[in-house]
Amino acid sequence: MPERKKGNGAMRVWTLLFFAVVLVSLGCASGPKQTKEAAKIDRQVRRLVAQMTVEEKVGQMTQITLQPFAKEDKDGVLTLDAEKLREGIVERHIGSILNCAGQARTVENWQEIITQIQDIATKETRLGIPIVYGIDSIHGANYILDATIFPQNIAIGATGNLDLLAKTAEITAYETRAAGIPWNFNPVLGLARQPMWSRVYETYGEDAYIASAMGATYIRAQQGGDISKVTNVATCMKHYLGYSVPRSGRDRTPAYIPERELRQHFLRPFAAAVRAGTVTCMVNSSEINGVPVHSSPFYLRKVLRDELQFKGFVVSDWADIENLYTREKVAKDRREAVKLAVMAGIDMSMVPYDYSFTDTLLELVAAGEVPMKRIDEAVTDILRVKFMLGLFERPYPVESMAYDVGSEASAKVNLQAAREAMTLLKNEAQTLPLSKDRKVLVTGPSANKLSLLNSGWTLTWQGDNEELYPADKHTILEAIGAKLGAENVTYVQGTTFDETIDIPGAVRAAQDVDAVIACIGEPTYCETPGNITDLTLTAPQLDLVEALAETGKPIVLVLVEGRPRVIRTIVDDADAILHAYLPGMEGGQAVADVLFGDVNPSGKLPYTYPRFAGGFTTYDQKVSEAVDPNTFAPQWPFGHGLSYSKFVYHGLRSDKSKLKPGETLNVMIDVENQSDRPGKEIVQLYVSDLVASVTPAVKQLRRFKKVQIQAGQRQTVRFTLGWDDLAFIGRENKPIVEPGEFEIHVGELSVGLAVPKPKR
Ligand code: BGC
Repeated sequence: MPERKKGNGAMRVWTLLFFAVVLVSLGCASGPKQTKEAAKIDRQVRRLVAQMTVEEKVGQMTQITLQPFAKEDKDGVLTLDAEKLREGIVERHIGSILNCAGQARTVENWQEIITQIQDIATKETRLGIPIVYGIDSIHGANYILDATIFPQNIAIGATGNLDLLAKTAEITAYETRAAGIPWNFNPVLGLARQPMWSRVYETYGEDAYIASAMGATYIRAQQGGDISKVTNVATCMKHYLGYSVPRSGRDRTPAYIPERELRQHFLRPFAAAVRAGTVTCMVNSSEINGVPVHSSPFYLRKVLRDELQFKGFVVSDWADIENLYTREKVAKDRREAVKLAVMAGIDMSMVPYDYSFTDTLLELVAAGEVPMKRIDEAVTDILRVKFMLGLFERPYPVESMAYDVGSEASAKVNLQAAREAMTLLKNEAQTLPLSKDRKVLVTGPSANKLSLLNSGWTLTWQGDNEELYPADKHTILEAIGAKLGAENVTYVQGTTFDETIDIPGAVRAAQDVDAVIACIGEPTYCETPGNITDLTLTAPQLDLVEALAETGKPIVLVLVEGRPRVIRTIVDDADAILHAYLPGMEGGQAVADVLFGDVNPSGKLPYTYPRFAGGFTTYDQKVSEAVDPNTFAPQWPFGHGLSYSKFVYHGLRSDKSKLKPGETLNVMIDVENQSDRPGKEIVQLYVSDLVASVTPAVKQLRRFKKVQIQAGQRQTVRFTLGWDDLAFIGRENKPIVEPGEFEIHVGELSVGLAVPKPKR
């Protein structure tokens, strides 16, 4: 029996109008007018494809990691085996190479590597097609020594500052391309709605609006509207789709996501990324509802190509075509797996070590099981990006760009990003800022290692090689020492993450100081090695804080962690708690700046911080989840973050009380800084749909803006909302706006809005 729909005929009208609005805006944003340049590129690609043999085409669809081509790696300097490279590029015609063969390299070494690769590709192959080299510059150009390594994305999510994000993205693009690498496997657009997941820190948080706004800003900043410019790179939205919520909490395990939820949340950042013009897409290693995404024409064709109108090329994740038969068991052998993936819509395989994909695909084409049309389609999309990148004219690195890698100006932006990420979760009796003329004890496993401020994707995959970290950057301990004078700072580590070292020693040292700063959190990790079975912070760290609390000294906790570890049992022990996330190379400095009042904290939680290891609910929960405090009792809510200033919101108002399709609504709020310190505030605007045919979320974030307000001043903050800000995914799994009552919330204030029934 068909579902009964609220509003029936009238509602259908709004639905159609809504689609019209969406289609028009999609058309404007992603349907690029065929510019002369684009038409020229299309002609060049067609001409080239027409000359290619099937081996050359299938080769272009093959991506191999750098490792098999590496010959020597002395003291971090890599040289390549020219013969192996020739085999890959000239004989096997590979189109792409990735990764760093183990660890970060100097920009000069990178330039040599890329030059050697492009020399062979452009001078020794029949058609001279350049290689497109790809790398994970996840939080800065993290595989280039001395590059600017920013806070991880989760911390950028906390800054609420899109302009700052754009600057970090531009610097990352510049430094990546300075090495000669034109393709960045970022942004990560999964939503951190499963806090156990080891890749939470690579995301912008749990909310689809923030991830959409940040992802799109990142893409625009890195691609700059023209990826042929030597300061820009091609971006890669990933991991499409639904990777971030494994039911088990462990990386690369199944997600179960109803289509409505998929569209309501998970698809939105990818849609925004396509509108922002991302030219490549990497696929979710795992599965949704039992279907590995690498094998799904529904996700890779119908949704990605037909609905989102993605025009770039799709790359598999690491070994994930192989995984279709070795791990996922949806194919009986490699041949079936390759056929399934290529026919589903994978254009390039990150194989990554050998030519098994290439050989198998050639066999499939020869047997007529994969039509030439499909191969041509994939190769066309790959080559288009190579032409767009200008690689045919300029395949080589620009040597002089090396000088500006890791510049002082970039370090300043980095410090600013780390400072703005700092999120003050608790500050009892204004414990913070601490006075600089006091003595402190610094303790805890996170206090004195740069690697812990950065974690994975830093200099190595796991980010754990402390020796590679720059000598001139400060750990938290060092930065505090520089501020207070070493004689005023005592350091007793107390514990590692897993073992107690000397808790009594830390307690003794606490007797002689004015305050205790305990730096706790997580070891370095990345991807599957970061799996955990319990979200609770490890016992030795909890023991350390509990023991220190008995001293009666003021206790300040600094959380250095990539996901929200449960700390319920020590929250009351602490007088102040600062969430530093993974704040990057300038993170030690930023932490010290906030603790001692040189910087006023302004970050807000990009996820709901759970109180219990089994109690995960996101901020946009349903009413049934919200009414019972035992059901929804986070440690701190999404969007929480204190300041040393006091911000008071007044006079929330809007210029319309009713909204119709195509109309916009202006919302204003006055924010007053009732303190004697200038400060920054992220003003967040939420919308609630009070009654809807699909149980509505209690609220949805629709806008945010970070503003700086001087002491004692007021500022009016304006937002413009549109029709689609009232939409949700309805019973037909399509976006709709239903007539009825809405509420707009900013801070504690709210104002009503009605969507009238359309006249017939
Ligand atoms: C990760 C991707 C990454 C790729 C290449 C995979 O293991 O899932 O995010 O881009 O490796 O390094």
